[in-house]
Amino acid sequence: MIKLVRGFKDVLPAETALWQHVEAMIRELLENFGFAELRIPALEHTELFARSIGADTDIVEKEMYTFTDRSGDSLTLRPEATASVVRAYIEHGLYAKSPVCKLYTIGPMFRRERPQKGRYRQFYQVNAEVFGLHDPRADAEVILLLMTFMDRLELSGIKLHINSLGCPECRPRFKDALKSFLAGCSEQLCSDCLRRRDGNPLRIFDCKVPACKEAMQDAPSILDHLCNACQRHFYTVQSALERFHISYETDHSLVRGLDYYTRTTFEVLAEGLGAQDAVAGGGRYDGLVKGLGGPDQPAVGFAIGLDRLMELLVGRAQGFEKRPHIFIAALGPRAQDEAFQWVQDFRMQNVRVEMDFEDRSLKAQMRRANKLQASYVLIVGDRELEDGAAVLRNMNTKDQENVSVQDLVNVVVKK
Ligand code: HAM
Repeated sequence: MIKLVRGFKDVLPAETALWQHVEAMIRELLENFGFAELRIPALEHTELFARSIGADTDIVEKEMYTFTDRSGDSLTLRPEATASVVRAYIEHGLYAKSPVCKLYTIGPMFRRERPQKGRYRQFYQVNAEVFGLHDPRADAEVILLLMTFMDRLELSGIKLHINSLGCPECRPRFKDALKSFLAGCSEQLCSDCLRRRDGNPLRIFDCKVPACKEAMQDAPSILDHLCNACQRHFYTVQSALERFHISYETDHSLVRGLDYYTRTTFEVLAEGLGAQDAVAGGGRYDGLVKGLGGPDQPAVGFAIGLDRLMELLVGRAQGFEKRPHIFIAALGPRAQDEAFQWVQDFRMQNVRVEMDFEDRSLKAQMRRANKLQASYVLIVGDRELEDGAAVLRNMNTKDQENVSVQDLVNVVVKK
């Protein structure tokens, strides 16, 4: 038997109802905040990701599903959505249509990471991106959106971490300070970190190797190196969060796994997820639109990892399954034939209905109705049909009533 590819997974019908519910909740919230949906392809030119996420990030170095297609182009299954959203924003001139553009997208991403709990090679994200606003209130607003969503899901043990990564003016100064610090701990660093030390030392904050983590405990903080403008920006973000009673922790080591960030970065961490505890992450990326050949437009956004979010919601899937409103237990060939017509009539009225095609005993059909958790069962046999009546049984109260076959659909639709 051919099995799933390692690191990939199926989402089965018992869970999809909850997925749909959660997706509907976030869509509604995003649309209330002024976001419109953008649908982007799963495949892009490899260069798009290499240039935006950063050539020496784990994603680009080790995790992309890249292949050469028959025309010789190097293509990559998107490891994240921001780069694609920016590409579409530039390509379709969306910046010219309105000074502020808020886009969201929901779909699968692909990263060839080592599979483990909460880490898949295909996973789903909800992405929200705001273009055209320098104002720090825009950063606070996307965080507010994200935390409102977490709140509506009634999740406990949720923490928000925030940081500022500065701008092209102050970050180089911090990099120099960090490099001087790292020069003193060469022996402790892993080979990846030694390689990254000169080009992209901030990445070392993200290394999971215990010796590197320990070495970085005494590293200088970027928050002590921010220029005045970045300091003011970060201060305003924090004040806005406080105004809306959003608790947060500042975490100067929060550099994120992608290189495009400037100023604000943030992550939402959840208890109970184990090592992969980030359910959402994001930040400001003021240089990316220009860097990819677009106009000089600032941007800020986030992505929620739906698979991890669903793990936090296990046990809640039950109430969301779509059960039949009615099950028709038809006994005898005429009743079966009539019921087949009713089933279609009900469906045209948006009533969820099921029947059994196999003409089994009443007991067997009731068992099936119970299993499907139908709210009502309509029992009809050839004899009842001759009298023009059928029995409608409420499966919760067990009450039964006779209904006329003539207005069957109307009676049931009313219920
Ligand atoms: P990210 O932190 O790489 O950010 O991913 C966002 C979220 O996607 C993570 O917090 C996590 O919940 C989920 N995620 C990431 N990798 C996996 C995986 N292998 N398996 C399951 N879930 C995963 C970004 O992707 C940025 N594009 C976010 C952003 C949008 N920044 C600005 N705008």
